[in-house]
Amino acid sequence: MLNDKITAVILAAGQGTRMKSGHPKVLHQILGRPMIACLLDTLINLGISDILVVVGYQAEKVQEALKEYPVRFVVQEPQLGTGHAVQVAMAAVPPEAQEVMVLCGDAPLISAESIGALHQLHKNHRAAVTIQTVALPDGLHYGRVVRDAAGRVTAVLQAKDSKDRPEILAIREINTGVYSFDTPFLREALQKIPKSPVTGEIYLTDLIHIARERGRAVEALIDPDVDSLLGINSRAELAAATQTVKRKINARHMDQGVTLIDPEATYIEPLVSIGRDTVIYPNVYLQGKTVIGENCLIESTVRIEDSILENRVHIKMGCVITQSRVGEGADLGPFAHLRPLSDLRPGVHVGNFVEVKKSVLHEGVKAGHLTYLGDADVGPGTNVGAGTITCNYDGAQKHKTIIEEGVFIGSNTALVAPVTIGKGAYVGAGSTITKDVPPGQLGVSRARQENRERRFIVKKKEEGS
Ligand code: UD1
Ligand code: MG
Repeated sequence: MLNDKITAVILAAGQGTRMKSGHPKVLHQILGRPMIACLLDTLINLGISDILVVVGYQAEKVQEALKEYPVRFVVQEPQLGTGHAVQVAMAAVPPEAQEVMVLCGDAPLISAESIGALHQLHKNHRAAVTIQTVALPDGLHYGRVVRDAAGRVTAVLQAKDSKDRPEILAIREINTGVYSFDTPFLREALQKIPKSPVTGEIYLTDLIHIARERGRAVEALIDPDVDSLLGINSRAELAAATQTVKRKINARHMDQGVTLIDPEATYIEPLVSIGRDTVIYPNVYLQGKTVIGENCLIESTVRIEDSILENRVHIKMGCVITQSRVGEGADLGPFAHLRPLSDLRPGVHVGNFVEVKKSVLHEGVKAGHLTYLGDADVGPGTNVGAGTITCNYDGAQKHKTIIEEGVFIGSNTALVAPVTIGKGAYVGAGSTITKDVPPGQLGVSRARQENRERRFIVKKKEEGS
């Protein structure tokens, strides 16, 4: 935990042109969450309680997406560069803040360790500014870290301003865009940044040589965690960041005793929990606040969102489960769909091509094939035959179907709600049930079968045909 008086400023006002998107860059998702949320979680978990987010491009969208987070917003309009963004934010930095940490909303994977190390170095040297850097095989579009003969950082120069300076472009140590600043220095020096003659922008990085000119300490931490520190500027970099996060999450689950048959092809969002000895086949998506018990088996091509699977549940291939619960020992699929508020109690069997919505299937219910159960309460031990449909919608309203304990519903039955099938009742195959069936009785509503004499002419088989 960082207990010092720190204000974190997150730069997130830019459009992110290279994403070629109609959405603000920081809202593009990594495993189900806006990328900037990953950074906010890390800062909050570190105990940094004063967080300013600088927004600009589609500011309202970003504010709306982050409304649950304990952060303050500063609007930068127009966006005149990273230095300008911090100038705008400065008015909201409280006087008691000793250190201002600047981070980028589009470099959200930075770890708590990296932030802690930067802060510690900054504090130990009482520096005016401490920057985080990484060494790359090619410095690409990043700002280059310039050092003097003694190895001290003297400046950060932008690649786009150094096109005619190959000796600068050859530098492989680059600026990640994360800094710790001494607040009084920052407050005052920000006013002194000139506009770049090349782009007309106000660069935050100019504060490095301004600090040096004043004889203040500038420190740089070369961080080895390259994959987590580089920014996300394009769809390809977004995909790479998703892989980084996915691998970390999957490694954690495997460490805790979960078998992932192909971890590269398993997508588990950060808040999901999974019990030990559960086995997960490839192409599975576990999303939101899903909780999976022990000894479950989840086959391929399954998507589970905000749902609970108790222990020993078997989900066969091709199922989609949303906001639902599956009780201990139950099995589902292949190709079954649990829509929101489906509650399958222990030992339930739901087979292929079955859709369930807002229904309780009590212990031991079997619905093996081609069935729709919506707004239904199905009693324990009931057998729902193939092709059963609860007709829950009359065109205007939804109605309930109550099926009590130990009922047998014959195949191809339509249960027109509201309707109740009493305990131990039978429904004949092919019935359309519009009236309640009392307990223990047989409800049947199909036309009675007639067998008649055949009266058609058998065509004489033609020769040679
Ligand atoms: C910046 C750094 C560069 C560093 C790189 C790391 C500067 C001048 N350059 O370059 O040294 O290597 O980040 O990724 O600082 N933003 C605003 N308001 C603005 C401009 C930008 O909030 O007016 C935000 C962007 O949304 C983004 C961040 O600041 O989150 C960085 O801006 P970007 O334009 O990506 O800077 P780079 O050119 O990548
Ligand atoms: Mg950038």
